[in-house]
Amino acid sequence: MRFLITAGPTREPIDPVRYLSNRSSGKMGYAIAAAAIEAGHDVILISGPVCLDPPSEAELTFVTTADQMFDAVHRHVKNCDILVMCAAVADYKPALASKDKIKKQNANLSIELSPTRDILSSFPPEHREFFVVGFAAETTDLHKNAQKKLRAKNCDAIVANDVGSPNSGMESDENEVTIFFPDGQIQEISRTSKKNVARELVKIFAKMCEKRLTKKM
Ligand code: CTP
Repeated sequence: MRFLITAGPTREPIDPVRYLSNRSSGKMGYAIAAAAIEAGHDVILISGPVCLDPPSEAELTFVTTADQMFDAVHRHVKNCDILVMCAAVADYKPALASKDKIKKQNANLSIELSPTRDILSSFPPEHREFFVVGFAAETTDLHKNAQKKLRAKNCDAIVANDVGSPNSGMESDENEVTIFFPDGQIQEISRTSKKNVARELVKIFAKMCEKRLTKKM
């Protein structure tokens, strides 16, 4: 199978020296890429700015902004069997990035933000041949919010994690996740290293794809 995996944060420029971003380390996405390669799959990894060594056998594309990630995913996804949107794409970007460094003033500063394009939602289910897996980073009502995102973004599965709890989710080396499917099925992976979570996820994703292929035959 051919996996397209996104990882890490995006950075949205405010001016030449400042940006808007988030705490994503990219560890989960990179671990999924490594686990998919270990399981014998082909991997294209689209990465935001992170401090990690990418798996050597992955085909790599590095991006900075949400717009660049949107374009890179659209460029590569047509040749893939599954899109795994693990990246923490910024939801907002400065409406206008200043060409010059914004000078300090002794007053409040407001920056107008405009929404970025949602990558996951940009693949209508009736027009796609590949699987779409989303991630949901939640601090409250994990089940309710994840199931809402699964439907709203037309995903074939959504992997939810509680980013508010210590030692899980962002920046941590460990994670625990709940995977929701459109038929109401729920699967849990209890707390373990991101490497182990990634191996389990790759098995689940590969099974999902095989099931659909068998149905089609
Ligand atoms: N995502 C995306 N494009 C964006 C923002 C998010 O494709 N512009 C994807 C993420 O990669 C992730 C999923 O949407 O797979 C959910 O991201 P998350 O940050 O949990 O949710 P949001 O849709 O941003 O909603 P909220 O911040 O309100 O929870």
